[in-house]
Order: sequence, then C-alpha cells, then structure tokens
Amino acid sequence: MANYLKDNVGGITGGYALADGVKVKVPYSFMGSIYDEEEKEALIHVLKQDSLTAGPQVSSFQKEFAQHLGVKHALATTSCTTAMHVVAQAFGIGAGDEVIVTPNTFIATSLAVIKEGGIPVYADIDPRTYNIDPKEVARKVTRRTKAIFVVHFGGQMCDMDAIMEIARAHKLLVMEDCAHAHGAMYKGRRAGTIGDAGCFSFHSLKNMTMGEGGMISTNRDDLVPKMELLRNMNIKSWENQKYYWLPSHFDVVDVDGKWGINYRMNEFQAALGRTQLRKLPSLIEKRREIGHAIDAGIRGIKGITGTYEDPDCFHAYHLYTLCVEPEELGASRDEFLRCLYFEEGVQGILHYQPTYDFTGVKKYLKAAKHGGQFCPIADKFFYKREMNLPMHPRLGHEDVDAIVKGITNAARKVRDSGK
Ligand SMILES: Cc1ncc(COP(=O)(O)O)c(C=O)c1O
Repeated sequence: MANYLKDNVGGITGGYALADGVKVKVPYSFMGSIYDEEEKEALIHVLKQDSLTAGPQVSSFQKEFAQHLGVKHALATTSCTTAMHVVAQAFGIGAGDEVIVTPNTFIATSLAVIKEGGIPVYADIDPRTYNIDPKEVARKVTRRTKAIFVVHFGGQMCDMDAIMEIARAHKLLVMEDCAHAHGAMYKGRRAGTIGDAGCFSFHSLKNMTMGEGGMISTNRDDLVPKMELLRNMNIKSWENQKYYWLPSHFDVVDVDGKWGINYRMNEFQAALGRTQLRKLPSLIEKRREIGHAIDAGIRGIKGITGTYEDPDCFHAYHLYTLCVEPEELGASRDEFLRCLYFEEGVQGILHYQPTYDFTGVKKYLKAAKHGGQFCPIADKFFYKREMNLPMHPRLGHEDVDAIVKGITNAARKVRDSGK
C-alpha cells in the first residue's frame, strides 16, 4: 500500500497525495479556496503590527463575520473543534448528559461532547440529503438529553425548522456545526444563525480558509461572557483595576465549574479571514457552477446518484457527494471508486465513517453503557453508497470534463465487467 507523502504531517487531515505511481488527472485537493495579492498584502500588513494576537484583525474579523451572518456575536477560535468545545462547555454539557448527534460527521462533532463527559447519542440520517433526520432526532430524546448537535453536511443545511421545534418542545440547546456551510442558507436564513450557537471551520479544505481557525456565532447574549472566558483560559479583567499592574494584570474565574484553555485565533489568521470573507460569495458561486456542471454531466447514468438539492436550501457545495447504487450499477461502490482512481485518474474519497464505529468511541460508549449504537441509513451510506469528488473553486472546465468523463467511463467499465 502506498504511503502518504512524508511532509504531510497532518496525515489524513492534510492531504491524500499518494506515491503510488497513478497518473492522477484530478486530485482531491486539500486547498478549498483561492488566494491572490489581497492575501499577501493582508499578511504583510500584520507583520508590521505591534501585537500578533488578540488585536485589531481579530476584532474586525469577528465584527465582519457577525455582520455577514446577521448575528449579534462572533467569537474567533483556533478551529471549529475548539469552537464546539467552548460551546459544549457554555451549554453546560457535563458527565452523563446526552447530546443527539449525526453519525455522518467528522469526529470533532462528537469530541466536543466526549471532552465534557457527555454521551453522543446518534440519530440516523436522511438518505437523500445525508443530514440528520428530525424524525430520528425526536425518537432519541430522553430525560437526559441536553442538546442537539447538527451538521450541515456537504454545504446543505439540515431541516432546521423541524430541529428547532423538537428543541423547543423538550427545552434542548442546539449547536449547528457549520464547518461545511459558509455561504449556505435554509429558507433564506444563513447557517449558524438559527440554533443557540453555530461553529465554523477555516481548515484548509473549507469554503474559506486560513489553514486552520474557527468561529462561534450566536445571538445568545447570556452565553457570550462564558464563551469569552472559556476560549481564553478563564482570564477576566479585574473590576476594580487601579493601574494596569494593580491589583494584578488579570483575574482568573471559573465558569460554572468549567475550565477553558488557549483557543485564541492569531492576527495573521484573522487578516486572511477578512479577505476570504469578502471573496466568499464568488467562491460559493464558483462551487455551485462546478456542482451543477457535474450534475448535468452525470444525470441519467444508471446506478449513479448525483447531489440532491433541497428546494428549501441554498447549497454551498462544500462537497460534491455522489452515491453509487450497487444494485442498479451491478457493481460495488469500492469497485467503482477503484476504477475511477486507477483507470480514470479522478481521486474520490470517503466521508464519514459513522462516528460510533471508531475504536475509541466504541470503547467510550460501552463504558458509559451506551454501546451498540447503530444507524442503518448512515451505515449503508458510508459502507456501500457514497464517495466525494474533487470539489474546490479552482477546478476549470477541463477538470470538470475529466470528472464527468471519468464517472461515465468507470460506470460503464464496472457494469460491463460484472456481466
Ligand atoms: C463536519 C465537521 N465538523 C468539524 C470539523 C473540524 O473542523 P476543524 O478542523 O476546524 O477543527 C470538520 C473538519 O475539519 C468537519 O468536517
């Protein structure tokens, strides 16, 4: 088996370049955006600043991000994972509290719960949108349920009206994991503006990126002081500060028994974030053009299902998720994926193994007496149906043509070989 390239220190979170000799026509890129002179200038500007942390760039980025969403508050963090951890703490998630989560997500969504000793309870997904199914969420509510953590998978938002109705009925808190959903909308409302808090990622792969970074969005004034403390080591200014050195530089307070660590974004990330935010509409438009062109190109291929766009949603096309229907295609998803990569040079990848299937999570759930969780639709989706095509705004017509041709050829080849 080929090895990941040596300089890929992030392992699978940093790239899928393989030294296996395959002539890849369209690789799965781990750079989700476009940089130009604007980013260079923004970085050079920061080099001349007096401080590189918690300064004017972070402050402006937060204001601009909140304005863009139309929320009262935005708080910058080091990543979406740390943003979600702060939110879990501010929600007061503690030992034994149940949080209903989609299994079709990156490990980070469950980690925010596990870090606080909470129990992720998995609700199955909708087979067309791949988002958490509100009917399944309702089935999983118990006396111990404290919150619902949804993920707007691939850039298409969940059915938030139905989710919020369940939350209201049972007095639950709602966190929107918006790692895929910058630019996405549901009934005209932006991702991260409907639940009690939203969490965004600026990881390299995302719709706008600074390599790493995160943001919390919220309209909940009461949660903001807690979040401010938790992302910055529970540090608080003295109320009776006499001079800047008296009684001391700062105080440290607890937040309902919760302790934060250093989750602060730096000034370089924020300066880049500001340029990326200005470009976001055009970056999303490009993604949608590419998504629609792939859709049109593969429509009608037997056994291949393209992306479904919910009429209530404005899809941001963070991912282009394609499903192989093995019974119709006459071949498995893995045979198709193998042919697409080795013979057609189009690198598809899989997202996401149901979270309850990871070794450590299984062990954790078993110890918490919540083992044996299983969601049949998410299971079939990951193990039998889905794959994700290269998708980023730098793809040109030739790339899209190669993707469409690759899918068409691979479907024909695997179908013929099965006869
Ligand atoms: C759905 C989802 N949630 C959370 C994260 C974590 O984001 P970050 O890398 O910014 O911590 C990711 C991926 O990076 C993701 O895909």
